[in-house]
Amino acid sequence: MPKASKIKPLPRHVAIIMDGNGRWAQKRGLPRLEGHKQGGLNARRVVETFLEYRVPYLTLYAFSTENWNRPKEEVQGLFRLLEEKLDEGDEVAREKKIRVRHLGNLEGLPQKIQKRIREAVEQTKNNTGMTLCLAFNYGGRDEIVQAARRMVSDKLNVKKINETTFSKYLYSEDIPDPDLIIRTGGEMRLSNFLTWQSAYAEIYFTPVLWPDFDKKEIEKALATYSKRQRRFGHVEPG
Ligand code: IPE
Ligand code: IPE
Ligand code: MG
Repeated sequence: MPKASKIKPLPRHVAIIMDGNGRWAQKRGLPRLEGHKQGGLNARRVVETFLEYRVPYLTLYAFSTENWNRPKEEVQGLFRLLEEKLDEGDEVAREKKIRVRHLGNLEGLPQKIQKRIREAVEQTKNNTGMTLCLAFNYGGRDEIVQAARRMVSDKLNVKKINETTFSKYLYSEDIPDPDLIIRTGGEMRLSNFLTWQSAYAEIYFTPVLWPDFDKKEIEKALATYSKRQRRFGHVEPG
C-alpha cells in the first residue's frame, strides 16, 4: 500500500461514519459503551493521521438524530464521551491549530453539552489548521428542514433560492462538500448523513469495525479514492 504522502489526488474533505463500536465490544463480551470508549480513542488517532496527511477538512459522524432511540444509558454514555473528548481535545486543537465546527441540532442537546460545544467552536474559530466538523445530533433531513425554516423566517425572496443560497443555510455553510465518505462497520448505507452534501461524494465502505480502523485502513481508503474517476455528469474527454 503506498504511503498517503504519495497518493494523488488526496481528498480535500473526508467525512466518516464511525460505525461498528457495538459489535466490536460484543465480539469481546464487553458492554457496548466499552466499544464507544475504544471508538473515541480511535477517533483521536484518526484525526492525527489526517493531520499528518494534511487533509484540510475532516467530518466525524458521532451521533445521529435517530440515535436518540437507543437505551438511555447508551445515549448518556455517548454524551459523556463527547464531553471527555472535547476536554482532552483542547490542547491538541491549540497545538495543531484545529478549527472545530459543529454540524447538527444544538438546541436538542442537554445544556451542558451545548455549552461545551459552543466553547470548543468559539475558542478555535480563528485557527488556521484543519477544520474538524463534529456531526453530533446530526440528521441530513433535519438539516434541510432547519434550512427551509430559516429561509422562510428570513423572508428570502423565492427568486433568491438556488443551490448556492440553500447550501449557505445548511449547518455546513462554508464547508466544501465531502469528496470522500467512509463508512466502517460493513453497512452499505448513509444513515441520514450529509444528505445534501453527499450528492457527488465518492463512497467507500469497509467491513472493518471503527475501533480497528487504523492508519493502514485509511491508506487503503485514500488509495481507492485516488483511482476513482469523478465525472460529475460529464463525459470523459476524447
Ligand atoms: C458507533 O457504532 C456509532 C454510533 C452511533 C456512536 P454503533 O454503536 O452503531 O455500533 P454497531 O453498529 O452497533 O456495531
Ligand atoms: C450511523 O450509525 C450513525 C453514526 C455512526 C453516528 P448507526 O449504527 O446509527 O446506523 P444504522 O442504524 O445502522 O443505520
Ligand atoms: Mg451501528
